[in-house]
Amino acid sequence: MNFSRYSLFALATFSAVAATINQEPLGPLKERPNIVFILTDDQDVELGSLDYMPLLHKHLINEGTLFSRHYCTTAICCPSRVTLWTGKNAHNTNVTDIFPPYGGYPKFVHEGHNENYLPVWLQAGGYNTFYTSKLFNTHTTDNYNSPYPAGWTGSDFLLDPFTYQYLNATTQRNREPPVSWEGHYTTDVIAEKAYGFIDDAVALGGPFFLTVATVTPHSNVAAFEIDLDDPLNSPLESIVGVVTPPIPAERHKHLFPEVKIPRTENFNPDKPSGASWIKALPQLNSAIITYNDAFYRARLQALQAVDELIEGVVSLLSEHGILDNTYIIYSTDNGYHISQHRLHPGKECGFEEDIHIPLIIRGPGIAAGQTSYLVSAHADLSPTILSLAGLAPRPDFDGSAIPLTSSSVLSAEESGERGEHVNIEFWGLGLPEGKYGFSLDDGKIVGFGVNNTYKALRIINSAKGYNLYYAVWCTNEHELYNLTADPGQLRNLYPGSESSSFKVVERHEAELYRLVQRLDALLLTTKSCKGVTCRKPWSVLHPKGDRYDAFYADVAGTTSVRFDKCLLGYIKEAEGPQSLEFDFEEWAAFGGRGEL
Ligand SMILES: *[C@@H]1O[C@H](CO)[C@@H](O)[C@H](O)[C@H]1NC(C)=O
Ligand SMILES: *[C@@H]1O[C@H](CO)[C@@H](O)[C@H](O)[C@H]1NC(C)=O
Ligand SMILES: *[C@@H]1O[C@H](CO)[C@@H](O)[C@H](O)[C@H]1NC(C)=O
Ligand SMILES: *[C@@H]1O[C@H](CO)[C@@H](O)[C@H](O)[C@H]1NC(C)=O
Repeated sequence: MNFSRYSLFALATFSAVAATINQEPLGPLKERPNIVFILTDDQDVELGSLDYMPLLHKHLINEGTLFSRHYCTTAICCPSRVTLWTGKNAHNTNVTDIFPPYGGYPKFVHEGHNENYLPVWLQAGGYNTFYTSKLFNTHTTDNYNSPYPAGWTGSDFLLDPFTYQYLNATTQRNREPPVSWEGHYTTDVIAEKAYGFIDDAVALGGPFFLTVATVTPHSNVAAFEIDLDDPLNSPLESIVGVVTPPIPAERHKHLFPEVKIPRTENFNPDKPSGASWIKALPQLNSAIITYNDAFYRARLQALQAVDELIEGVVSLLSEHGILDNTYIIYSTDNGYHISQHRLHPGKECGFEEDIHIPLIIRGPGIAAGQTSYLVSAHADLSPTILSLAGLAPRPDFDGSAIPLTSSSVLSAEESGERGEHVNIEFWGLGLPEGKYGFSLDDGKIVGFGVNNTYKALRIINSAKGYNLYYAVWCTNEHELYNLTADPGQLRNLYPGSESSSFKVVERHEAELYRLVQRLDALLLTTKSCKGVTCRKPWSVLHPKGDRYDAFYADVAGTTSVRFDKCLLGYIKEAEGPQSLEFDFEEWAAFGGRGEL
């Protein structure tokens, strides 16, 4: 972000308005940029989906910067989107699921976020704000007006239970009643609404923020009955068979006939991998593989309508003469796996396929055709957008604005001051999708991933040669992968695990123990962090810049990340120690630096 660009401008009336509603501008502003956010649903980066989007390449990647180490922190729609629009990790929003009692739109409202999230701040800062398509799960034809989502100048939401229907969407515009689009292709309906909002925004004048949130390439989900007062006890039979591959537009159904899921090392491996329920999965048979390959193709085909939408948005901005003053951000809510680690199509895991996601930004001052290797996460996007709008960050953000210009990327890379870690967390179930994902067996539902509650860290620091994933499950299983040597995350290095090769080499084993102790102390800090502690956990671990291995040894000796039981939501009492119980003063005497 190039702050000087804004600070040169003369004082505008905007700052007075903002002051009354407590959204501080960063400096005097005049010609503020527009921001268009294109948000897909469940789009992987690891499985190559971006490679099949030529218009995305033409208009966004070639004209902007690809942030190649961007992560979601909770790999499922609603919690991830709440993090995206609040700048806070799920353990601070406590929206951790897609349905009540732990998540969904009612929980978002209940936790007070509807009065305190990005569009509200942007409006207070003088922006007109628009949103089209899916906002959150469990935003339904029944509860869409109780209350209406706050902060939007214009909105046109997809509503449950029709959100994921590619040919029978129901939308709800501003304060109007819901409308059915039976027989229309949902992505095209959304595209038309997005173009309409761009016209509206231009007609209104002033800077605007628009989110175009397609449900592509999420699975198609037929309408099903769920008791919102007691969703966990709803008749699960009603959801068997409702989750099927995405439906491409008629004009794209013939594409990529030969394409298959990349046969990476972790594709349906001969040996089980992962932890908990994943480790117990049987190998996929050839009928399932054939089905999954077709599922994968359907995702790529469905994304073609998004590719066209990108071109439509760029052309329209250009026609209005505002393309040069508009930032376009492209991302998704979470990634996706399909056959890796023997998993049926789905998300909710901590594997790279699920958490590593696309982020591309083009706009004034952002280098064209560049790749940034800075580590960033979804909690950074609200801070980034406020910064683009020339507005100050909220004091309770867990994330921080991502450096966007090539000079700021370079200086952040050189100083190493931006974090190298991403806090990953999940509560609840793994929900396999597609016809083989889960089924009825003797009247009972089988195939759900139970005990899918875990805390994890993803750490990437090229300068120091770290590229690790460390996880602690609610079953107290541990995972440690070195993604440089093992990109497929098949060899768990955690001491005592089957594939830990360190067991035999004593010197390495000692090193590994030290590494695990540090990772555990870091995770203990990030799993319950708030604000600056999330951004700079080392400042907690090393308040005076100290570094001493015995510190970690002692911490690990007394306090480590663990669970008392597996629960479906964020119940603190089940989640072991909340922070380091450690006398920092005592350690202040030791020298060193606050680094891994
Ligand atoms: C499409 O959705 C409407 C409700 O908006 C519903 O009444 C109708 O049955 C649905 N049609 C199909 C084919 O599912
Ligand atoms: C990870 O693997 C790379 C490549 O084999 C190796 O150089 C590095 O030391 C490993 N890191 C750890 C922490 O084991
Ligand atoms: C789930 O975790 C609990 C501990 O909270 C354990 O007792 C139970 O056996 C686990 N279930 C499965 C299916 O792994
Ligand atoms: C999160 O929400 C659940 C459901 O309302 C509640 O039981 C739990 O105590 C909350 N957790 C925290 C840490 O506030």
